[in-house]
Parts: sequence; structure tokens; C-alpha cells
Amino acid sequence: MDADLGDYRKSYEKGALLLDNVPENPIELFRNWFIEVDRHFNIEETNAMTISTIGLDGYPKSRVVLLKKYTHEGFIFYTNYESEKGKAILENPNVCLSFFWHSAERQIIIKGKAEKIPENLSDGYFESRPRGSQLGALVSNQSEVVTNREVLETKLKALELKFEGQPIERPEYWGGFMVRPVELEFWQGRPNRLHDRIRYQLQEDYNWKIDRLAP
Ligand SMILES: Cc1cc2nc3c(=O)[nH]c(=O)nc-3n(C[C@H](O)[C@H](O)[C@H](O)COP(=O)(O)O)c2cc1C
Repeated sequence: MDADLGDYRKSYEKGALLLDNVPENPIELFRNWFIEVDRHFNIEETNAMTISTIGLDGYPKSRVVLLKKYTHEGFIFYTNYESEKGKAILENPNVCLSFFWHSAERQIIIKGKAEKIPENLSDGYFESRPRGSQLGALVSNQSEVVTNREVLETKLKALELKFEGQPIERPEYWGGFMVRPVELEFWQGRPNRLHDRIRYQLQEDYNWKIDRLAP
């Protein structure tokens, strides 16, 4: 079955991004955009981002995860270290994060290196999660084949009973990764396909080189 989507067209008119008024530090710009989008553009999960990894099979793979914290050092998300992405990162830490905020006509692409965050930080975050999410992390051998859904539901019930009235500890295979950025690109849609693209690249002296890219 063919589906021709050639007539899907849209003019992008919601903003502009000019070299004159971007900050020297890209995390400042990330922060400004994130806050603005979160407040004014009616997006349900502003913190949903796509992370691409290079898999053990040599193929790139992308999937959505939730950004849980960002600092001047990097971007933190949580996952199962033994999942497909977890194993991929431990073998090759080079990853790409991307955000597409449709209603704001904005995209951010971040290349960086992922590393496990300290265990005490993962403990702290795990503790703050709702009990259902904590149990979910125990139930799921993320990315493994399961025979059917009942297997998971049965395991969940068993764990609910086992831990009734007790705190649940973070399993050591679950925790955070921080992506330390080496390059960030900010894309703002503009009319006539003359979109704004501003790229920051980390230099050896830890300053950021800023360039405008052709759309
Ligand atoms: C909106 C959304 C948020 C998600 N957040 C996370 C997350 O924070 N951590 C996570 O491990 N998986 C999250 N997932 C599931 C992942 O996309 C993916 O299915 C899972 O991590 C297994 O990926 P892998 O087998 O490639 O490792 C989320 C999915 C969606 C659609």
C-alpha cells in the first residue's frame, strides 16, 4: 500500500533565533527554550526526548525517555542499565538526544557522552518515585523477551505481597545516565524553509564555538 505525504506542508512562523541574542553558554539557551515551551506551548511532556545509541549490532537505535534533570554538566535520564540502550551505552558512550517541540516549531539536537551517575544520586531519585514505578523497575527485565503480559502481572502481584509495608530498594541494574554535551544545535522553524539553526561546539579550552548553519 502506498501513501504519498508530499502535500503535507506547513509554514513555520512562531519565532526567530539570531546569533546577536544567543547566550555564550548553550545550557542557558536550553533552559530559556525549555521554560518558554513548557509555559506557553501546551506540550504534555516537554521533557520527553529521543535518545539514539549505537547498538552492539552496529545499528543506531532511537527511543523516547524522560529528561529528569539538567545542569551545566549535562542531561540526566533513568533507565535499566541492562536494557538494550544500557548495554549499548556501556559499550559506546557516544549518544544523541533530541527534542522536537512541535507547537513551538523548535528542535534541539545534542551530541554527547553518557556515563552512569553516582549510585547515591540514583538511590535518591529511586526513593522519590511512586511505589508503582519502583515495583515496575523490579518487575521488568527491560528489553528481554517475555512470553506474555500475564508473566509481568503475576510477578508484580508477587512483589507487591513480598514488599508490603516495606521500603523498596533500588535494584543495582537500574539508575541514571548523564549525557555530557559536546555539541548542541537549536533549530527554529521559519517561513520559506529558511529556518534558523545555531550550533554550539565544545572547544578544547571548554569554551563554546557558535555558528549559524544553513537550513
Ligand atoms: C513518553 C515516553 C517516556 C519514556 N520514558 C522512559 C524513561 O524515562 N526511561 C526508560 O528506560 N524508558 C522510557 N520509555 C520507554 C523507552 O522508549 C523504551 O521503550 C525502553 O526504554 C526500552 O528501550 P531499549 O530496549 O531500546 O533499551 C519511555 C517511552 C515513552 C514513549
